[in-house]
Amino acid sequence: MIHTVGLTGPRGNTISVYAAGHGPAVMLLHGFPLNHRMWLKQLVALSSRYKVLVPEFRGFGKSALLDAPYTLADLAQDVEFVRLSLANAAPMHLCGLSMGGYVAFEYWRSYSKHLSSLILSNTKPGLDPEAARSGRLAMAEAVHTHGTWATVEPMLPRLLSNNRPREEDTVVSQLTEMLQQPSPPAIAAAQVAMAGRRDFSSELASINLPTLVISSEDDVICPAEESRDWSSQIPGAEFSVIPQAGHLPPMENPAAFNAALESFVDRTLSR
Ligand code: MLT
Repeated sequence: MIHTVGLTGPRGNTISVYAAGHGPAVMLLHGFPLNHRMWLKQLVALSSRYKVLVPEFRGFGKSALLDAPYTLADLAQDVEFVRLSLANAAPMHLCGLSMGGYVAFEYWRSYSKHLSSLILSNTKPGLDPEAARSGRLAMAEAVHTHGTWATVEPMLPRLLSNNRPREEDTVVSQLTEMLQQPSPPAIAAAQVAMAGRRDFSSELASINLPTLVISSEDDVICPAEESRDWSSQIPGAEFSVIPQAGHLPPMENPAAFNAALESFVDRTLSR
């Protein structure tokens, strides 16, 4: 059963967390501009064997925006607060997708001793090219005038693969709902934080814990070849490409994504 916890953070801010199951803690960090719902299939499937924790970043889902601007290091601190509050302060397996991956890099930088493993999905360690960085700052301005949906709708076609399994294709409607949810200030604050993020590309060789890098066949935002390249700089890192998925394999092809994640976590636990 999934339950919601509204934690009160160190500064009085609400951090909403969805939790399910018992066992070793696996924390899942969502992408932009999404919320816990992108991880619903994992909350259900993985909770038979793990304690699955899905926090929502500031301004997304039910978490308070607090005072913007914030940095991705601030979000990593929130993640640590969630671990201390809900994982009995035990080490955890941390999986971040895209923006969640940027936060996972930050978490690793400050708190690596609390990690059993790191799973970096559909993300990248490096900075944006200048045009993309200024695009983020432009979006952070425009969203106040045009509203959330008009500003984020153009992202939609780039997020999904046309080859995703279609048996129960509720992905577009779920995604549309999520994209409409954040307030303009939440969108703006996240884009400013991502535009100012730290560059981890020269630190990959010092990641010395079990690491899995996940990409997908049809991710046009973080292409598989690029992910393969940077993953090879992390000592001993595993690399997995999810078929029939774009930027959001946990939603598009949950069976393949869950199998990759579970088999990695299990092997880490048996080491
Ligand atoms: C995400 O999915 O979190 C975004 O694509 C991240 C980004 O804008 O770089």
